[in-house]
Amino acid sequence: MKHKQLLDLDSQENQNIGAMEIKENGEEEQQIVNPWKVEAKEGGKIDYDKLIDQFGCQRINQSLVKRVRRLTSRAPHVFLRRDIFFAHRDFNEILDAYERGEKFYLYTGRGPSSEALHLGHLIPFMFTKYLQDAFKVPLVIQLTDDEKCMWKNLTVEESQRLARENAKDIIACGFDITRTFIFSDFDYVGGAFYKNMVKVGKCVTYNKVVGIFGFTGEDHIGKVSFPPVQAVPSFPSSFPHLFSGQDNLRCLIPCAIDQDPYFRMTRDVAPRIGYHKPALIESLFFPALQGETGKMSASDPNSAIYVTDSAKDIKSKINKFAFSGGQDTIEKHRELGADLEVDIPYKYLKFFLDDDIELAYIGKEYGAGRMLTGEVKQRLIQVLTEIVERHRRARAAVTDEMVDAFMAVRPLPNMFD
Ligand code: TYM
Repeated sequence: MKHKQLLDLDSQENQNIGAMEIKENGEEEQQIVNPWKVEAKEGGKIDYDKLIDQFGCQRINQSLVKRVRRLTSRAPHVFLRRDIFFAHRDFNEILDAYERGEKFYLYTGRGPSSEALHLGHLIPFMFTKYLQDAFKVPLVIQLTDDEKCMWKNLTVEESQRLARENAKDIIACGFDITRTFIFSDFDYVGGAFYKNMVKVGKCVTYNKVVGIFGFTGEDHIGKVSFPPVQAVPSFPSSFPHLFSGQDNLRCLIPCAIDQDPYFRMTRDVAPRIGYHKPALIESLFFPALQGETGKMSASDPNSAIYVTDSAKDIKSKINKFAFSGGQDTIEKHRELGADLEVDIPYKYLKFFLDDDIELAYIGKEYGAGRMLTGEVKQRLIQVLTEIVERHRRARAAVTDEMVDAFMAVRPLPNMFD
C-alpha cells in the first residue's frame, strides 16, 4: 500500500504526497489526476481503483446506496445507482449524523474559465440538486473567479463576468433559491471567510502544498496561496449569515475526483482548527469524445459537448468523434459484438439515459453485435439533444435579477425545512 501511504494526507505522518506523478517500484507512472490535469497512462484508461488506493478514499458500495434510498425514501439518483459517484470520504458519517436527526450542508463549486459549461461540468451540479432535494439541506456554491484569473491568465474583470455567466448555467440546474447561496470569491472573500483562510494557511507548510499540488519554483505565489480559498467553504463559520452559532455543522462536498487534493489538505487541517473534516462524494470523469484517457475538457472543443451546442453540433460531434467499440466491418461486428469497455456512445448513455431497462437492452444487443454503432449513436444524439435543449430553455429563463438574488448575502429562510 505504498500509494496510500504516499497520498493519504488524512494520516498526519504522510504529509508529502505526490498528486502529480507517482512512483511505484522506482518506476514513473503516467496516470495523472489533479485539479488541472487528468491523464491516463499512455493509451490506457483512468484506473479508478488505483486512484481510490492512491488517494485513500473509499468505494461507494451497494449497501451505502441502499441506505441512501432508505433515509431519503426515494430512488437514488442514476449517478449513484450506476457507480458514477463511486468514491467517498466519511459519507457514512454524514448519514449517521442525519439519521440521528442532525442536518448538514452541501458545498460545491465551479472555476469559471469558459463561457459555456460542458456536459461533464453539469454532472456534479445535477447530482448536488438531487442531494439538496433528497436531504432538504442548504447549499453553498463557490465560483473561483480568482483561481481562473490566476491559472488561465484572464483579467479580473473577465473572470468576474464569466462567473456570472456560469452562475446562470448553475441556476438553470434547478436549485432552490431558499436553500442556496452562490458566491464569487472576488465579491465574498473577507471577514470570517478570510479569518478561516489565514487559520488554514498557518497549518500548511510550503513543502506540503508542493507535495499535494506539485507547484514548482516557476509558479507564481498567487497559485501557491490559493488552496485555502477553496478549503474554507467546508467550514460553517465562513458563512456567518447562514450558520452563525453552528460551528459543528457537517459539510458534504460533491465533485469529480480531480478536486480531491484540495480536500485532502482541508481534511488534514480541519481538526487542528476546531472543525469537522468535510465529507466528500466523488464522481468519475465524463470522458472526452475521443475515449477514456482523460476528462472532457473545455480547452479542446472537439473533445466536448457544450451546453451551448446546437442539435446539429451534437449530431456531428458524436458521429465524427465519439470513439466506437464496434468492429471495423459489419460482418466482424455481428460476429464479435462491440467492446462496451471502450465504447464512448454506450458510456455516455450510462450517464444520461435514465431508463435502466433500455440501457440494459442496448448493452446486451450492442455487446452481442445485434445492434450497430450507428444505431447507438443515433439514440445518444436524441438523449443529449433533449438534455441540452432543456438546459438551454432553463438558462434562457434565468435573469440578471435572479443571479443577484442567488448571490445576495442573506439568510436562507427554509434552510432545513
Ligand atoms: P471546474 O470548473 O474545473 O469543474 C466544476 C465541477 O465539475 C467537475 N468536473 C467534471 N465532472 C465530471 N466529468 C468531467 N469531465 C468533469 N470536469 C470537471 C469538477 O470536479 C467540479 O466538481 N476549483 C474548482 C471549483 C471549485 C469546486 C469547489 C469544485 C471550488 N470549490 C468545491 C467542487 C467542489 C474548479 O475549477 O472546478
